[in-house]
Formats: sequence, C-alpha cells, structure tokens
Amino acid sequence: MKKILITGGAGFIGSHVIRLFVNKYPDIQIFNLDKLTYAGNLLNLSDIESKPNYTFIKGDIVDAPFIDALFAKHQFDGVIHLAAESHVDRSISGPMEFIFTNIIGTANLLNAFKATWKDFTGKLFYHVSTDEVYGSLGDEGLFTETTPYDPKSPYSASKASSDHIVRAYCHTYGLPVVISNCSNNYGPNQFPEKLLPLMINNIRHNKALPIYGKGENVRDWLYVIDHARAIDLVFWKGKMGETYNIGGNNEWTNIDLVHKLCEIMDRKLGREPATSAKLITYVTDRAGHDLRYAIDASKIKNELGWEPSLKFDEGFDITVDWYLSNKEWLDNVTSGDYQKYYDEQYL
Ligand code: NAD
Ligand code: TYD
Repeated sequence: MKKILITGGAGFIGSHVIRLFVNKYPDIQIFNLDKLTYAGNLLNLSDIESKPNYTFIKGDIVDAPFIDALFAKHQFDGVIHLAAESHVDRSISGPMEFIFTNIIGTANLLNAFKATWKDFTGKLFYHVSTDEVYGSLGDEGLFTETTPYDPKSPYSASKASSDHIVRAYCHTYGLPVVISNCSNNYGPNQFPEKLLPLMINNIRHNKALPIYGKGENVRDWLYVIDHARAIDLVFWKGKMGETYNIGGNNEWTNIDLVHKLCEIMDRKLGREPATSAKLITYVTDRAGHDLRYAIDASKIKNELGWEPSLKFDEGFDITVDWYLSNKEWLDNVTSGDYQKYYDEQYL
C-alpha cells in the first residue's frame, strides 16, 4: 500500500492510530481526514505533524461530492475509518448528527472507495466500531463476534447501522472490508465528556463528580494504545470480511472505578485521603443506560496473537499523569461552551 486514509485522526483513538502508522510506516503516505468537531484537536498530533509521510485534510465525511473528489484525487489503497460522533449522552440529546456522520458518512466513504478501484486486490476498507452494537449484558456472559446486534442508544444504533452497511458492501459488491468492535478505551487525548477525563478534570477543579444512577453499570476498559496496536494488526493480518472483538478483560463498575481514581488523584495532588471522593454526586440516570459491556477477545488473541500489553494499574497511572501534566490541553479543550454545556446537561 502506498496511501492510507485515516478518518477521525484528530480525535482520541484516531490520534493514537495516526501516530502509530506515521512512525511505523515511513514509506506509506498517511492522510488524516477530520472535520475538527468539538472532539477533534490538532494538538493531539503536534509531535508528528511535520513528518514527510503525514498530511492533514480538513473535511466532512457527510459531504459526498467532497469525499468523491478526494478519493478520485488521491486513490487511497486503504481506509481506516474512525470518524464518528462518539458520545452516548450527546446522541440522546441530539441524535441526528449521529445519523448523518456515522451512517451517511460511512456510506459516502464506501461509495467513494468502491468507485476508485475496478480491482480490489491489495486494497482494504477497515471500519472501526464499538461493542455497544451488541446491546447490554446482564450479570453474566461476554460479547462474542456472533452475539446478535441489539443496539440500545442512538449512538450504538448508528454504529450498528454503519457496521451492517459495511458488511452489505462486502457481500454485494465484493468490497474488501474488516470490522473491529472494541470496548471502552481510556488514555491520553480523550475529550473530557467521557467518564475518566471528565472526572479527572472535575477533581482538579473541586467540582461535583456526577455518577449516573447507582454507579453499578459495568464497562470493560482498554488502554487506547493497545487498541491502536490491535487496529494495526487487524489492518495487515485480519481476514477479509471478518469481524474482530477487542477488549481489555477488565471490568469495573463506574462507582468502583471513580473511587479508584479519587484515591490516586488525592495521592498525586497531595490532598488528604478521601478528599476527592467527597465530590461524588449521584445524579439522574442516563436514559436507557446499558447495564454491562464485556468482551470475549479470544478470536483476536488466538488468530492474530493480540493481547493488551499494559496492566490496568500501569495504564491508569500513565493516564492520570498525562492529564495532570497536560493541563493546557485540558484547559484548551474545555474552554468555550464546554462548561456551560456540562452544567446544563448533568448538574
Ligand atoms: P472522538 O469523538 O474522540 O473522535 C472522533 C473524531 O471524528 C474527531 O476528531 C472528530 O472531529 C471527527 N469527526 C466527527 N464527525 C466528523 C465528520 N462528519 N467528518 C469528519 N470527521 C469527523 O472519538 P473516539 O473515541 O476517538 O472514537 C473513534 C472511533 O472509535 C469511533 O468510530 C467510535 O465509534 C469508535 N470506538 C470508540 C471507543 C471509545 O471508547 N472511545 C470504543 C470503541 C470504538
Ligand atoms: P462514557 O465514558 O460516556 O462511555 P459509554 O457510555 O460509551 O460506555 O461512560 C462510561 C460509563 O460511565 C457509563 O456507564 C456512563 C457513566 N458515566 C457517569 O456515571 N457519569 C458521567 O459523567 C459520565 C460521562 C459517564
């Protein structure tokens, strides 16, 4: 491959994927297509922006004529598609943006990729998706690649829809595709609307820590760079038309995770033990809140040899240190309307 298009590269996971690919594959031209919504930030890529094999393109995947022209111009051999509206709470208050970007945007990319090549040999469209398409688990069991889709939020329904469209293009037109469905990521560069960076930012400012419902919902947490490593592996070694589940085998209830965070933050900020936990505030539950997500990642382990490389305590420590030593980044992304939006939404 000579040219790979990565969409959503200015966002949380995309920025780690871009960094990995730009550094690891100096002979491949890596293009980053991103609209720079509230969640996209070029600060996430400042260390690689001047590399000769990296090009940033500002643009909207919903704009079909723009996408068609871009593909006609550059003839991308591979696409790794991460651009999306990604936050469940925003999908509840405003679902249409999710329908446009996640469904129409994905279809636009597929159409443009399909129109680029007569012969798909050596080409690939990689769609990055979420475990939330499988719905919600009870106390037992894990999501496997054959778990029936049962999305519950506008976000997960829009991702499920795009997964189906990607598979339909493979089945109908012979498009070479792979899909991965990953559990909750944590790590540097995550926009502080998601649980961990939101809590870190609020602890810093001595603000309330909003726990939805009873805090008993469970998520399976994976360090973002381990997800990027998995994407690299699936991109080169994954079987055409297949799906791979990616997860951390690392389940936490929200309340236990936030207590763990509070203890670490007290230590790192030199505060008395139990100071931050006093900020915990139970708030009205998220509408339709999925109880539990947990991934069976044995397929990617057995077939491609992938496993998380970091223990959770290590990844968690690195993450907290990153946010504490990148206060400018936090202040930058939480300037503007951020505080108003969150105060109105949740508190
Ligand atoms: P993010 O919200 O941090 O970043 C999304 C990026 O997409 C941003 O840079 C944004 O500017 C860009 N974007 C949004 N709309 C666009 C549009 N119309 N055109 C072009 N660019 C646009 O998201 P993330 O957490 O990094 O997630 C990336 C992908 O991984 C998403 O597809 C998401 O569904 C999937 N995923 C996320 C997680 C997670 O825990 N965050 C887990 C599994 C899968
Ligand atoms: P989030 O980071 O939004 O990811 P997702 O909903 O995609 O799993 O939320 C993770 C969990 O934390 C989820 O169960 C909702 C809960 N949560 C809170 O309790 N308070 C908050 O302020 C946020 C943002 C999330």
